[in-house]
Amino acid sequence: MDNRPIGVFDSGLGGLTAVKELEQILPSESIVYFGDTGRVPYGTKDRETILRYVKQDTAFLMKMGVKAVLAACGTVSSVAGDLGGVLGLPYFEVIAPTVRAAVKATRNRRIGVIGTPATIASDSYRKALLKLDSELTVFPQACPLFVPLVENAFIAPQDEVPRLVAERYLAPVREAGVDTLILGCTHYPIISSIIGSVMGKGVTLIDSGREAALALSGVLREKNLLSGGSTRSCSYYVTDTPDNFTNVAELFLGHSVTGRTERIDIETF
Ligand code: DGL
Repeated sequence: MDNRPIGVFDSGLGGLTAVKELEQILPSESIVYFGDTGRVPYGTKDRETILRYVKQDTAFLMKMGVKAVLAACGTVSSVAGDLGGVLGLPYFEVIAPTVRAAVKATRNRRIGVIGTPATIASDSYRKALLKLDSELTVFPQACPLFVPLVENAFIAPQDEVPRLVAERYLAPVREAGVDTLILGCTHYPIISSIIGSVMGKGVTLIDSGREAALALSGVLREKNLLSGGSTRSCSYYVTDTPDNFTNVAELFLGHSVTGRTERIDIETF
């Protein structure tokens, strides 16, 4: 049994898709969330910059005394891979659990993958999918504007701005006849109703944040690392003004995070 918190990090709001899942499946677990809102997006930056950021982000969570780290970020997972050995504690990325869920879901073995430019350029999802089933046909599509849209609260299902952008990005993937679409960026499930309506009813969306949270809960349970307590505390740390974060976070999580969100300077923490 281990009462220490679970650490979750992302470049901004996206990782909250994993936090939302963790809050539901592990209601007694405390969570320390780090969203690098002052340096988002990661997905349009080069590998060296992303790796430098990841080193700082994980060092912060270690200082917060976490028992496990979830990189709730497709870009980080694609570029940094598995850091469990380096950190010396259970470390979870989003690619492996997400591709397992997609291979299980598809019927026609035509799978779309959307993510940031860095994630798509890394080819990490396509390679991981073909390792599981070499007969798959994979259709990757970078969607760079989705992250700024989510970070700036353009997330309402009836908002024509994200819908027009989604139509522009997703039309080729829809026309390719995929029956499964991997949301390879943890920001994307926040606009999944828009993505789903553009892709059409017959397409299953795979939420990478959710799949990673499910994988983490299974391993912590197996290793008897869940907490014994009934009360949990969730704290949120950001690197830009908390206001933007709290507005969208509360919309998405369905509860207030005000008073539990703190701005830090990650470069000097
Ligand atoms: N949530 C991040 C991901 O899953 C977005 C990365 C970014 O900041 O561009 O890739």
